[in-house]
Amino acid sequence: MKALILSGGKGTRLRPLTYTGAKQLVPVANKPILWYGIEDIVAAGITDIGIIISPETGKEVQTKTGNGEQFGANITYILQEQPAGLAHAVKVAQPFLGDSPFIMYLGDNIIQSELATFLNTFKKQQLDALIMLRRVANPSAFGVAKIDENGRVLQLIEKPKDPPSNLALVGIYFFANTIHDAIANIQPSARGELEITDAIQKLIDREQKVEACTLEGWWLDTGKKDDLLEANRIILDTQITPSIQGEVDDKSQIIGRVQIGPGTKVVNSSIRGPVIIGNDCYLENCFIGPYSSIADGVTLIEADLEHSVILQKATIAGIHQRIVDSVIGQRAQLGVAPRRPKAIRFMIGDDCQIELA
Ligand code: G1P
Repeated sequence: MKALILSGGKGTRLRPLTYTGAKQLVPVANKPILWYGIEDIVAAGITDIGIIISPETGKEVQTKTGNGEQFGANITYILQEQPAGLAHAVKVAQPFLGDSPFIMYLGDNIIQSELATFLNTFKKQQLDALIMLRRVANPSAFGVAKIDENGRVLQLIEKPKDPPSNLALVGIYFFANTIHDAIANIQPSARGELEITDAIQKLIDREQKVEACTLEGWWLDTGKKDDLLEANRIILDTQITPSIQGEVDDKSQIIGRVQIGPGTKVVNSSIRGPVIIGNDCYLENCFIGPYSSIADGVTLIEADLEHSVILQKATIAGIHQRIVDSVIGQRAQLGVAPRRPKAIRFMIGDDCQIELA
């Protein structure tokens, strides 16, 4: 069994963060989204992993993630020259996959459940494909399944305007090598992509063995800001173990589950967990509320924030109006003059969203 993780794409819904980096490397609780998938796959006993990369962000993904050693895996990088669809990515990966069955994992998805149970079902029943479904409020944003009363999949439709159910396709699939022939026999969709949903539909039409299981735990597709904040909240809630390695002065107060990395200095500040703060940060006269992730090298002086994600080397100074539900990009600088400002000056990149709530 092998695994194929898709880490290409343009990440348009996470702009402006994705102008300068891969969406799969945006951190959730200070760890790139992509790494959660790698860890899940390794935990299920699969160590031969191919990662699909794009010409734009491939280098960054490769440099940051490495050859897999840190995960106990062996990672092969596979370049997909064009964002021509998920099924196209499988086509490009065929030399790596050979005849092996494989898990296909979209690099911006995170799920709560362990993969091992699904993998067992897939193997035991000798399926051609096992898909995962989850009920969602906005099925039109996903691939959607129409199933019969016994839970058998009748039809899969990609981003339907008029969805036949509220069962969305989770971005994790199990395939036998029969998927390659199905892919070879589909045409590009209206948006010009080879869709994996169409390839699975081909298997269904050929009466090959396609089963679906329903996912009960949480599933996060981190492609947008609010989903990213939600993923951050859930991971901080469930996976943070308190540990303080930096320096915290006597005037500071730390409450709840808080992780502070080495080289970080906290002066006269109040931090209320769950919160994760990376390495080499400097915090002075701040309030950091629950569900905040602060990456390495961030400077926060006279700042109040909660339920926010601050990326590497950003600086926030002099903002005591509470910053909430925010994602602040790498090296961004937010500052206000010491006294009540008479004017606000901006230097804002394309596609930024600023809301004075
Ligand atoms: C892709 C798939 C879609 C699936 C979704 C899950 O869509 O095409 O069927 O429901 O991932 O994350 P995308 O997010 O690439 O638009």
